[in-house]
Amino acid sequence: MNAFAGDLAGRVAEPVRPSRVEAFIAANSFDRPTLVLDTDVVAANYRALAAGLGAARIHYAVKANPAPEILARLVAEGAAFDAASRGEIELCLSQGARAEDISFGNTVKRAVDIAFAHQAGVRLFAADAAEELEKIARHAPGAQVYIRLIVTASEADWPLSRKFGCTPDMALDLMDQARLLGLVPVGLSFHVGSQTRRAAMWGATLDEMAQVWHRAQAAGHRLTLLNIGGGFPAFYGEAVEAPTAYATEVMQMVRARFGAVPRVMAEPGRGLVAEAGAIAAEVLLTSRKSEDDLHRWVYLDIGKFSGLAETIDEAIRYQFLTPRDGEQTGPCILAGPSCDSADVLYEKRPVQLPLSLASGDRIVIRNAGAYTSSYASVGFNGFPPLDVVVL
Ligand SMILES: Cc1ncc(COP(=O)(O)O)c(C=O)c1O
Repeated sequence: MNAFAGDLAGRVAEPVRPSRVEAFIAANSFDRPTLVLDTDVVAANYRALAAGLGAARIHYAVKANPAPEILARLVAEGAAFDAASRGEIELCLSQGARAEDISFGNTVKRAVDIAFAHQAGVRLFAADAAEELEKIARHAPGAQVYIRLIVTASEADWPLSRKFGCTPDMALDLMDQARLLGLVPVGLSFHVGSQTRRAAMWGATLDEMAQVWHRAQAAGHRLTLLNIGGGFPAFYGEAVEAPTAYATEVMQMVRARFGAVPRVMAEPGRGLVAEAGAIAAEVLLTSRKSEDDLHRWVYLDIGKFSGLAETIDEAIRYQFLTPRDGEQTGPCILAGPSCDSADVLYEKRPVQLPLSLASGDRIVIRNAGAYTSSYASVGFNGFPPLDVVVL
């Protein structure tokens, strides 16, 4: 099935197709849901984004997919890393990353993890609260910190607002406090929201952020670092701009608002790894709830608790390939295998699937390399976590 619409040529990112991945899936059988990854695609996406980002350094957001092979490949490509925990820092170090290339970007950190990071040589930490700065000052004295701002204007499919960041006034206070605590407040960060499909959607957020940046400078802070976070999109069937053009446009918008910033960093996760993977899954059951039910229910061997957490609120809509593509389709409610009624993937907007689809059929979930394996529970209902194969 060709998922790319020709009339969108020029606007649609032609993702580096995970054809090796889909060929591998077609040629093999799997005894449980399996994510197959191609690190060549990760490297190609890294180069494409880096080309558009120019001098901005890429810190790969490890949480998107912590497969050691991906980290090793990105180390070889020259990437830096954004880690959320001690575990992710250790993983990066184990794959050859240098401590000075790792930023500790979670604003909610364990004190002992801060101490570990500091002792390991990590020098850059995120914060959005006074208590967090105190923890950093105590356990990583003299560290560089950047203050994360709340994003109010996200147009992303998976927004990261509310829980993270602080208001502009608070950010200025925190920079003062950081200085008093002996830390080095180097700059600001934000996250425009994950899967921000078009670069133009960054405009309102960048306007807000630039205002704070200029206020902090006027207040006497020598800012050297702007962390523009992630948000770089992947192809899930809806038009997205190609990575280099997208990143180029974002950087033009950054320059127009912030002027010359000594150090810009970006933290792409999804944009690097989503298109590098596909999941081999299986249909376990098809049914209707009554004779006159308009919808078919299709139950898969993978669900919200085994890798497809981003279907919460039907936010991320994956594309599916089946052996029966081309046959007549109908609206299907798609659900996972667990005994939890929350384990329904798409119901508000049912998925069009072949009506002949039946138990035992293979179903491939395309472009599923981001936020899947790392989201799978270890054994909910006794189902094993999503298996990972790296080609
Ligand atoms: C701090 C931080 N940076 C970067 C990312 C990666 O975002 P994305 O996958 O949208 O590129 C995330 C995602 O949650 C994040 O929390």
